[in-house]
Amino acid sequence: MPGYELIGKEEQDQLMDIFNTSNGVLFPHGFDALRNNRYRVREFEKKFAEKTGSKYAQAVTSGTIAQVVAMLAMGVKPGDEVITQAFTFVATVETIIAIGAIPVIVDVDETYNMDPIELEKAITPKTKLIVPVHMLGNTAAMDEIMAIAQKNNIAVLEDSCEALGASYKGQFAGTVGHVGVYSLDFGKTITTGEGGMIVTNDENIYKFCKEYHDHGHESNPAFPRGRDTRTMAGMNYRMNEMQGAVGMAQLEKLETIVNANRANKAYLVNNIHSEKIKYRVLTDADGDLSDTLIFNFKLQEEALKFVDLYKQAGYGTKNIPDAIDWHFAGTWNHMFNEVPAYKNSWKTEWQKSADLLYRSVALPINVKTTPEALAQHVDAINKILEQI
Ligand SMILES: Cc1ncc(COP(=O)(O)O)c(C=O)c1O
Repeated sequence: MPGYELIGKEEQDQLMDIFNTSNGVLFPHGFDALRNNRYRVREFEKKFAEKTGSKYAQAVTSGTIAQVVAMLAMGVKPGDEVITQAFTFVATVETIIAIGAIPVIVDVDETYNMDPIELEKAITPKTKLIVPVHMLGNTAAMDEIMAIAQKNNIAVLEDSCEALGASYKGQFAGTVGHVGVYSLDFGKTITTGEGGMIVTNDENIYKFCKEYHDHGHESNPAFPRGRDTRTMAGMNYRMNEMQGAVGMAQLEKLETIVNANRANKAYLVNNIHSEKIKYRVLTDADGDLSDTLIFNFKLQEEALKFVDLYKQAGYGTKNIPDAIDWHFAGTWNHMFNEVPAYKNSWKTEWQKSADLLYRSVALPINVKTTPEALAQHVDAINKILEQI
């Protein structure tokens, strides 16, 4: 699970360093002498790019805004169609609607991510972008998705908000497509409280993101900030120095977090014994972030019974089913008033996803779990499964 479990002295030290060595300058730019030329957001971006193996990384205020800025940088315009998946967080679709584009939502398959067959069927001459989402730490089928995208000459934006630390065939999740976005909110692999990151190898896309998120500032080294050059208007989606400082401490812990996830998940999988459940299909088992264990039953009643007994044993699920209303498009009537294609049909769309999701259960994997607690957890799960 997430970085918040490991928030502590390293983050405090990084924060205090802003006050001890940079006179408390919290703004990411300017005030060069006062801050002793320390720029923590920039340092965080540099480290983040190195860690993910990307040429460029741009920090912003959230994963949601990372997607907005990335889509604008990729040239998505009002009226363009953007294809994404039925199982995702609302933000993935909200952002498409917010910029005036049209969300085209396709079913997920047994990976609980975009079904490439459904993706191919959904492409039209108006498709501008494909947004696969690496839900709950398992990457989407990127080989298939990239092949379809290339065949149709469409760009791919990976929503890696839930998959920082996962990888796909040796590449960091978020770096297989043209652009990747991450969330650094408080529930994610690493956290800056709120925050987001955009990564890409495309210099023009990076340049747009850098300028757009900062009112068009080019951060031209030849000029002080007040005389900075610009060629376009933008917005203020800047990360602040406190977030950058915490982000650096958290990034140092990424491997520890992922390794703990993987060890704890492997223990559960190796010790749960039941013929009644089927595990989520992983596209790259070695690259799985392993912060969630997802399985499904044959029947919805079995899943409901499991959840009921699991709750009674003192445990909670993660998104499925407790927060399914925020993660399954088939419940988003509040949003589809603005999307004519789904306005009257949202209830009956995505039946394949609905069938899978409503038979499923997702369990959180924690970083800080004692061997005793893990053993107790397995014991509880096995006992519950025996009762189903
Ligand atoms: C798949 C997905 N996309 C986008 C977001 C948005 O990220 P943020 O909360 O940083 O705005 C989230 C956050 O939960 C997410 O899970």
